[in-house]
Amino acid sequence: MVRLLTAGESHGQAVVGVVEGVPAGVPISKEVIDQHLSRRQMGYGRGDRMKIEKDKIQVLSGIRGGITLGSPIAFTIPNKDYENWKQGMDPFEGDLDYKKVSHPRPGHADLAGAIKYGFDDMRHVLERSSARETTARVAAGSIVGQLLSQFNIEVASHVRSIGNVAIENNPVAFEQLKDSENSLVRCICEKTERLMIKAIDGAKLEGDTLGGVVEIQVKGLPVGLGSYVQWDRKLDGKLAGSLMSIQGIKGVEVGDGFESALKPGSHVHDEIFYNDADGFYRKTNHAGGIEGGMTNGETLVLRCAMKPIPTLMKPLNTVNFVSKEAHQAAVERSDTCAVPAAAVVAEAVVKMTLTEVFLESFGADSLKEMKRRWNE
Ligand SMILES: Cc1cc2nc3c(=O)[nH]c(=O)nc-3n(C[C@H](O)[C@H](O)[C@H](O)COP(=O)(O)O)c2cc1C
Repeated sequence: MVRLLTAGESHGQAVVGVVEGVPAGVPISKEVIDQHLSRRQMGYGRGDRMKIEKDKIQVLSGIRGGITLGSPIAFTIPNKDYENWKQGMDPFEGDLDYKKVSHPRPGHADLAGAIKYGFDDMRHVLERSSARETTARVAAGSIVGQLLSQFNIEVASHVRSIGNVAIENNPVAFEQLKDSENSLVRCICEKTERLMIKAIDGAKLEGDTLGGVVEIQVKGLPVGLGSYVQWDRKLDGKLAGSLMSIQGIKGVEVGDGFESALKPGSHVHDEIFYNDADGFYRKTNHAGGIEGGMTNGETLVLRCAMKPIPTLMKPLNTVNFVSKEAHQAAVERSDTCAVPAAAVVAEAVVKMTLTEVFLESFGADSLKEMKRRWNE
């Protein structure tokens, strides 16, 4: 069982994480973690916050000399912006009236959070509901990703659409995904990239925001991760849950997902073949690598729909939380579009979930034991 607990306010001192359950003996590179953190910060359409932050992990426990100990891995990622917010965010001296938020933003956690926890200042809500938290998930994903890569399991992503601008390529081969690393919007098609950037510029000019669709692929998974024997062991259910937990994600598809509901079975199900060299194999992968809640040996293909960012520079209508009078929603420094960053976060949560089922199948104490069982 691998699990992650995170803590930290968006403008607090640091984002904090504890990853428990990483087996002993896994070589971990700090540079690789920092590289993933930096990928999360990129993407055309991000707000000014990302110009301030230069996210780097500080590991406090669980790793010695670059090797995991099997004990909880505790880490922090300091928020540079805290220096500018100390007056309001200091845990004991912070001024509770500092940048108070009274006008809940439609689409954000503000209103429900304030009612639920009995606040009249939605600053208390937004500091924690903010996607700054995903920094910890990316760090944790990178740690367990380094375990998965010991077994040649590779995870990659790309952006399929931003607003109504979408790539036509379908399916996209895993090998093509590396092209997304050179794109400002993590798009593999240069022509579409230009149109996506134009769409983001247009939305920004209007004080508006955009969402989109990201795709995550995983290559090298063995057959049989997850299980059909109990509902809560089904891998597609677990993956959907972790992807839906990302801020702003409102839909998840496995393989052809919603598209497959429009077609007859003869056009959807991936026929099975066999030869001595490859064993069982398919010529298509509409199922996206999962059948019956288990990996089937094909590339895992997942898609997530991200809604547009809720903080609009041309704010929507809302009401004052206390007086109930009509007002415009709060405006907080914000991204216009964070779909490329969401793709990096999605990679990370997929790595966490796959590690959970991987450890179930191959043991959880040490890398050595896992390799022995893997090679059996
Ligand atoms: C990487 C990333 C960056 C985000 N940046 C912002 C932002 O700058 N402003 C904002 O209002 N929402 C942003 N969001 C989305 C909100 O955090 C999210 O919509 C909000 O927490 C409400 O949760 P829900 O959309 O899942 O219901 C971002 C999401 C992600 C994944």
